[in-house]
Amino acid sequence: MTDFSLAHFEEAASFVRGRTRHQPTIGLVLGSGLGELAQQVENTDLIPYGEIPHWPVSTVEGHAGELHIGELEGQVAMVMRGRTHYYEGHPMTRVTLPVRVMQLMGVHTIILTNAAGGLRSDMRAGQLMLIADHINMIGMGGANPLRGPNDESLGPRFPDMSQVYDPGLRAVARQVALDNGIPLAEGIYVSLAGPSFETPADLRFLRLMGADAVGMSTVPEAIVARHGGLRVLGVSGITNIARMETGPSTKTTHEEVLETGRVIVPRLIALLRGVLKALPAAK
Ligand code: HPA
Repeated sequence: MTDFSLAHFEEAASFVRGRTRHQPTIGLVLGSGLGELAQQVENTDLIPYGEIPHWPVSTVEGHAGELHIGELEGQVAMVMRGRTHYYEGHPMTRVTLPVRVMQLMGVHTIILTNAAGGLRSDMRAGQLMLIADHINMIGMGGANPLRGPNDESLGPRFPDMSQVYDPGLRAVARQVALDNGIPLAEGIYVSLAGPSFETPADLRFLRLMGADAVGMSTVPEAIVARHGGLRVLGVSGITNIARMETGPSTKTTHEEVLETGRVIVPRLIALLRGVLKALPAAK
């Protein structure tokens, strides 16, 4: 599998620049079943992922595969309706190529969303969780998106990860949630490679390790974004509660994830619109 590097990122970025009137400064990645906000972008330039050179096209239901660039709550945003995951078979450098394109286009803030399984006993399906920090289980196994030669023009060899999720942005999100009566938990997101869901023993292990929610995305994008100097906000939609007991009635399904996504979407939209509105307006 060939890795993707600056030349690929630049080719993709130059294609996207040629297809939009806008200069986005905010990036937004909408995860499984959470893509509806893209429809609310105004003066949109819409680009199907398949047309952008090297851009990974998602094969998963619930991921439309469209880039919407336009205006939202006073911001100029580049909104990804759907993403690609490592389990779809791409190298990490391709999974995270969209973040590099955002970086090259001048995006300074990225908001990452995902569907996740709740691990903490007080969590409920349908709830939102602000990501306070992450555990990079895939990366610990070696699949870090920064593996390979480092391009100093994109970021440092050994980037700091002591504060991946921006404290200022998190404070804004908490305030918006409070003002709008949106229940918002906060916790640690652990990323696994997937695509199989976890066993009850996996889940007990993840909980013991300190994780509050589990999913199959977001962390590689957050790492690349931090490497590139972008500010990151992460929000999980808790689509199901992890079942830690063994038994036939404890199945998790993708249908369940998409179904609960429908409950989460209005809350997520309210939260994200509120956050965008609270950020300094684009000129
Ligand atoms: N596990 C992993 N990924 C997920 C889950 C889960 O329970 N729910 C949504 N994405």
